[in-house]
Amino acid sequence: MLKVRKVDPLNPDNSIIKEASNYIRNGYLVAFPTETVYGLGADTFNGEACLKIFRAKGRPPDNPLIVHISDINELDKVAIDIPEIIFPVIRKAWPGPLTLILPKSPDIPKEVTGGRNTVAVRSPAHPVALALIKSSGTPIAAPSANKSGRPSPTLAEHIIEDYANDDIEMILLDAGPTFFGVESTIIDVTRNPPVLLRPGPFTIEELKSLFNVDIVVPEFARGLGEADTALAPGMRYRHYAPHTRLIIVECNDHDSLIKLLHDTLIDYLNKKLKVALLITKETANQLMKYPEINELPIIILGYRENTYTIAASLFDSLRNLDKINVDIGIAEGIEERGIGLAIMNRLRKASGFSIVKCKV
Ligand code: TXA
Ligand code: MG
Repeated sequence: MLKVRKVDPLNPDNSIIKEASNYIRNGYLVAFPTETVYGLGADTFNGEACLKIFRAKGRPPDNPLIVHISDINELDKVAIDIPEIIFPVIRKAWPGPLTLILPKSPDIPKEVTGGRNTVAVRSPAHPVALALIKSSGTPIAAPSANKSGRPSPTLAEHIIEDYANDDIEMILLDAGPTFFGVESTIIDVTRNPPVLLRPGPFTIEELKSLFNVDIVVPEFARGLGEADTALAPGMRYRHYAPHTRLIIVECNDHDSLIKLLHDTLIDYLNKKLKVALLITKETANQLMKYPEINELPIIILGYRENTYTIAASLFDSLRNLDKINVDIGIAEGIEERGIGLAIMNRLRKASGFSIVKCKV
């Protein structure tokens, strides 16, 4: 049964945290908020409990989980042979949305790492996540709490949507919307130079200056094409996908983008398809000059001038696309700068790489 408990995101009630940590300690699942997205957690050192996460999500067993710790001092419980270069970085970046791939401790069960000899670790910044880990007295292994393939949950309602009809013993800590809205940045520091496996709220610009070395950004980290699975096991699965067909329109300048969005829209309307637009407020204002626009469902993605607003509502926007009855969603692309890289990675993957680009 899914038990839902409301908690204050900044001052979580002790008795509720205790109830949830008893679930973790007894080998059950807890869905909990982090500053990025909601996670579905179990006791890292209980392989049976971690298997329940895979069963609940329908997640392939070779796609490993992220281990969440509440303090840097817990790192040597979960990882070994830790490269020195990471210490100045994690002292600044943790708690926060940065996940590192490290050589795994032999104590970590194979279920957590999908049989790999490395482990993904991060220390989340959300007060509820930190309180839950501390009270459980064990690191918590957790992927995002969505069903496999669905957009990650940024609201408790998304988890209820995905699991309400399932017969699973679990507690959901409902602390309202998560803060960033896209998953943590993942860096593989077992490679030299380090490799970005997934862009997130911790931007590549910040990381380059913190690590003081160059960081490799493979094409798949930009959401262009499939990943090398030896490097990034989770990146080959269709991710973040709405059920509705989605295409992304990308241009370098805003005027060309407005024109290409309009041309693309007219193409699909001429094919007698029902279209929705997923666009920023600035773009919506510009497109109002075309009469066709007023007839269409529009999902506002936030503001181009503040890309954090786009990240915060991105997965909710993708879920909302499925709730309006259309054949296709046309989404606006943004610049790959700062958190924009994470947004474009998610959008391109959600579209199954259906991208219409301006000619340059
Ligand atoms: O922000 C986040 O990272 C959220 C919150 C809950 O912490 N978690 C999350 O987990 O988004 P998720 O669903 O993305 O799953 C973990 C990711 C997968 O892409 C997986 O392939 C990758 O981490 N991963 C885990 N262990 C790995 C390893 N040893 N090597 C490479 N990638 C790994
Ligand atoms: Mg996930």
